[in-house]
Amino acid sequence: MRTTVGIIGAGPAGLLLARLLHRAGVDCVVLETRDRAYVERRQRAGILEQGSADVLRECGAGDRLDREGLIHRGFELRFEGEAHRVDLPSRTGGRTVTIYPQTEVVKDLIALQLGGGPPLLFDTRVVAVEKADGEQPLIRFVRGGQGGRHGREGTLECEYVAGCDGSYGASRRALPASAVTMHARTYPYSWLGILADVPPSSDELLLAGHERGFALHSMRSPTVSRLYLQVPNGTDPRDWPDDRVWDELDVRLAAGNWRLRRGPVLAKSVNGLRSQVIEPMRYGRLLLAGDAAHIVPPSAAKGLNLAFGDVVTMARAFTHWHRTGSTALLDRYSDNCLRRVWQAQFFSHELTTMLHAAPGADAYDRAMQLTWLRRVTGPTAAAAELAENYAGAPLV
Ligand code: FAD
Ligand code: PHB
Repeated sequence: MRTTVGIIGAGPAGLLLARLLHRAGVDCVVLETRDRAYVERRQRAGILEQGSADVLRECGAGDRLDREGLIHRGFELRFEGEAHRVDLPSRTGGRTVTIYPQTEVVKDLIALQLGGGPPLLFDTRVVAVEKADGEQPLIRFVRGGQGGRHGREGTLECEYVAGCDGSYGASRRALPASAVTMHARTYPYSWLGILADVPPSSDELLLAGHERGFALHSMRSPTVSRLYLQVPNGTDPRDWPDDRVWDELDVRLAAGNWRLRRGPVLAKSVNGLRSQVIEPMRYGRLLLAGDAAHIVPPSAAKGLNLAFGDVVTMARAFTHWHRTGSTALLDRYSDNCLRRVWQAQFFSHELTTMLHAAPGADAYDRAMQLTWLRRVTGPTAAAAELAENYAGAPLV
């Protein structure tokens, strides 16, 4: 097989890139190790910045988003039993965020691609990217047999490779250690997340900085709630029966007469919090995007939005090259993305540190944290900056 851009991974980054390239007339093929059902069910991000929602609309993937997405004009910060609303439009020139789960973004993009878009091969595991530093990179894959011994081996010759295969994919393995720097930080706490079959207990998101730890009330639809609790690293979800989760959420999210609705728990998992950046986001003709290039802790909901920012920049660069033969934008791809990536790293780190109880934190640390929270909820420049960063900048 041959194509112009070989895309590894059918997560949000790979699928949106394929859509943007297809519309610009640039040939591409997407290779995805999992099957369609798995990719469409994977529970992850829930929030689209306005820039991300606008990109989906512009590329014809906005119909269901406009029907079913829940537009949010603000969120609450809760601490010391008080609730402080952060208004987004008044602080950001009218920007909002939309609750539209990653599962639905992925379903919409897959449906468009299978209905007349470029080839999308599921159950196709990339095992190596070769000759990335030459003129004609080559992707080696195993197709069928769940990527194992019974699969058929194949190759895809490309002019460029887009590594959109997340932080455990084949693209990262193709980077020589001498060619890139990997910045990494692991946080000393994790998130226990539940999906609950109960209408949200508030119209807006609630982020709590309790002295027992962070808690978040979010949602996936008018009937499904998504909630998180800060827990110690190494926590086993089996040590958190449903009642214990709800009781702890009650304590950490409490404010005034507000009450948390309980319901059947549909899913429960624990995930660590990590920050990572690979610099540069390119090696020869292999360009990285999304989680393959960087990871942020989920506190500020930036992961999916950053992935979209990368592929919008990448699609523009490929389109320019395809039309003019100039590699000028491809050459600037990494620098252009990294500016936005480090801004998001900084904000995600700040929000995480402001709202989580670090192991060993003492009364002084807590007083500093509360002072910080009062600054961002008062009539200050810090409050405007928080709203600006949470809503995110336009992508196009
Ligand atoms: P991914 O979505 O990881 O997609 C990569 C794709 O590549 C996958 O489909 C994978 O199967 C495929 N792949 C991997 N290896 C290969 C291979 N060798 N060959 C072929 N295909 C391959 N962000 C938030 O903003 N809020 C959240 O609440 C949140 N929760 C998260 C929970 C978890 C458990 C994780 C892992 C991430 C979460 N994120 C969250 C981050 C957000 O979901 C990611 O930033 C987003 O999915 C990035 O999209 P992507 O396309 O770059 O990567
Ligand atoms: C989520 O719904 O997963 C979510 C919402 C808001 C955040 C982080 C995660 O700030």
